[in-house]
Amino acid sequence: MKRTIAALILLAGVAGIAGWIEAAPEPRPADSIAAHQPDLENGKRLYTAAGCLSCHLPTKDDTAADRSLPSGGTALHTPAGTFYPPNITPDPETGIGGWTDIQFVNAVKLGISPGGDHLLPAFPYTSYIHMSDADVLDIKAYIDTLSPVKAANKAPELPLYLPVEQVMRRGLGLWKLAAFKPAPFEPDPSKDEVWNRGAYIVTGPGHCGECHTPRNAFMAMDTSRWLAGGPHPEGVGKVPSLRDLQKRGRYKDANDLATALEFGETLGYDKMSSGGMGAVQTNMSKLPAEDRLAIATYIMSLD
Ligand code: HEC
Ligand code: HEC
Repeated sequence: MKRTIAALILLAGVAGIAGWIEAAPEPRPADSIAAHQPDLENGKRLYTAAGCLSCHLPTKDDTAADRSLPSGGTALHTPAGTFYPPNITPDPETGIGGWTDIQFVNAVKLGISPGGDHLLPAFPYTSYIHMSDADVLDIKAYIDTLSPVKAANKAPELPLYLPVEQVMRRGLGLWKLAAFKPAPFEPDPSKDEVWNRGAYIVTGPGHCGECHTPRNAFMAMDTSRWLAGGPHPEGVGKVPSLRDLQKRGRYKDANDLATALEFGETLGYDKMSSGGMGAVQTNMSKLPAEDRLAIATYIMSLD
């Protein structure tokens, strides 16, 4: 996603410098979430499907760090600067311990920090917006059970030509106005439950579209070409289309694709390892079989 992020940041910087005011969306008020009894099992399942740990990993240089915990810090290099996904373990000082439910929901679904700043869309809230509040709160409840890690967040390293971080973040508000459509996931009543479960995981937590859907002029996912593949958002190579997989002879049926998602290249399936797909496949392998089959059922129906 590096090139996309770079373009966004440049746009945001220009918008910020031009002094355009902070735009939509507004953070939601605390009373907009319904009372909820957290389900930890569901939280763990969605945390895995969403790949939270894959991005919030500690750096390899920190050999003492526990790589099963999302204490953050692995550099995300983009042509517009280097960013460090923050510590999201429940440490109250350096992580997100003590965040309220609404603060978490506003960050994960709307890309707004507790301080009111816009978060970079490298954090795929543009997909997570399609998750239900209940599922997002389950993820929070699961994260709250992880061991807290003290690991200070690192400020981004922006080159000189870029304006200060605050200005860039303000500009992102303008981008959101043009390119971010907060809308809940709508199940398709003409399809069965398995298909709809798959569509939900792919569109929301799985954020498959962030890589597999080409971008429009606003650097937003072009939903008219949903999952049709295109240039890799990090600027190197291509991301394959997930449409017509059966007709193109890639997989025999949904069971075949579900097996590919479970075992990847260890069972001889190709196109499952590079460009970030390896981490996605590893996460898929940890999901219950019914989730993999749901994802595969939905994807194999796309032509
Ligand atoms: C593709 C990479 C990626 C994935 C996947 C990802 N994040 Fe992040 N996340 C980021 C980046 C980058 C930032 C920092 C954004 C910024 O600085 O504006 C971030 C920021 C955050 C923040 C704000 C923290 C703070 O201190 O302001 C929270 C909370 C968060 N992520 C939680 C999650 C959760 C929960 C998941 C899984 C549901 C997740 N992230 C998945 C990249 C990712
Ligand atoms: C970080 C970007 C990224 C994300 C997110 C991502 N993919 Fe991929 N995907 C890729 C790339 C790149 C490839 C090609 C990998 C290769 O050639 O080794 C790929 C390949 C695939 C393939 C093989 C296509 C074929 O022609 O056989 C499938 C299936 C797939 N992805 C499904 C998914 C699903 C399902 C999700 C969401 C749960 C997802 N991907 C999320 C980048 C991504």
